[in-house]
Amino acid sequence: MSQPNAAPPPAAPRVNPLQRIWLREIGMERLWLRPAPAPSRPTAETQVLVSTPVLPAAAQIPVAEAPIAPQPVAAVAPVAAVPAREAAPAAVAAPAEPTPGRAGIPTSILNRKGPPPPPAPKAEAEAALPPPVPVAEAIRNSTLEEMHDQVVACSACGLCKGRRNAVFGHGGQPTRWLVVGEAPGEQEDRQGQPFVGRSGQLLDAMLSSVSMSRERDVFITNVIKCRPPGNRNPKPEEIAACSPYLMRQIALLKPERILVLGRFAAQTLLGTDATIGSLRGRIHQLKTDEGREIPVVVSYHPAYLLRSPSEKARAWQDLRLAVAQLA
Ligand code: URA
Repeated sequence: MSQPNAAPPPAAPRVNPLQRIWLREIGMERLWLRPAPAPSRPTAETQVLVSTPVLPAAAQIPVAEAPIAPQPVAAVAPVAAVPAREAAPAAVAAPAEPTPGRAGIPTSILNRKGPPPPPAPKAEAEAALPPPVPVAEAIRNSTLEEMHDQVVACSACGLCKGRRNAVFGHGGQPTRWLVVGEAPGEQEDRQGQPFVGRSGQLLDAMLSSVSMSRERDVFITNVIKCRPPGNRNPKPEEIAACSPYLMRQIALLKPERILVLGRFAAQTLLGTDATIGSLRGRIHQLKTDEGREIPVVVSYHPAYLLRSPSEKARAWQDLRLAVAQLA
């Protein structure tokens, strides 16, 4: 029997074409676009959130204290002193070369009479350099723009020697989600932008499936700002040297949520060596230096999803979890 005063059934959610493609890819299109049932009881996701335990204390350790980066960053990260934006170019500028002469040989060498001068005594050369300023100290009061220049000029670890470009990160502000990956790959190193290769295309599709965009409301960055040679795993000293940049980005961007992609980034940010399987599916809390707690959702790295497409359904659950927390 029809009920004259009953409310019309809720309409199916509206999705854009990209969202639809993503939903179809993971077999959720029909399920998701079905009109929602009357909203009388909490959804499974809400229940997950309500019962989600906050991680044990170990997971709340800020990056600078994480076990994976055992030494305090301030003590191990020598970086060229770059106190402010204007100072940055001087810190990166290559030493002036004499005008090249024949076959690229500097004229100062071609025209030289007698034997080459002896190298300056080591102690004297070192005395001429300013003492290195640790990263954490150098960026303590930096704005995002200043820190961008400091990252571009950074020489706090050996990765600076092999990079084409440091990758600071990119995205919209105010920042609703901060997405944190591992480290730049080849394409990112070439272009100086995060997630621009195939993984990046998949990440964009995933974000779009929950109406998020890197241009508008998502800032994307990595734990490590320079590409490790051959995409090898970053070393503990590289993580320790680079982590203060990520922590300052978090402090300045104040994201509502952090989505961490892949085991390495999750373990580093949460200060744990737990498996990604055990870190997924719940909300973690990251304590910032100012005492704020930011919810963190862990998901698979897009590069892994490209190799294991059947896991995309789980990545979708992770995105829903992050969205539900925001609602
Ligand atoms: N993988 C990452 O973790 N980060 C990038 O920026 C690109 C690929």
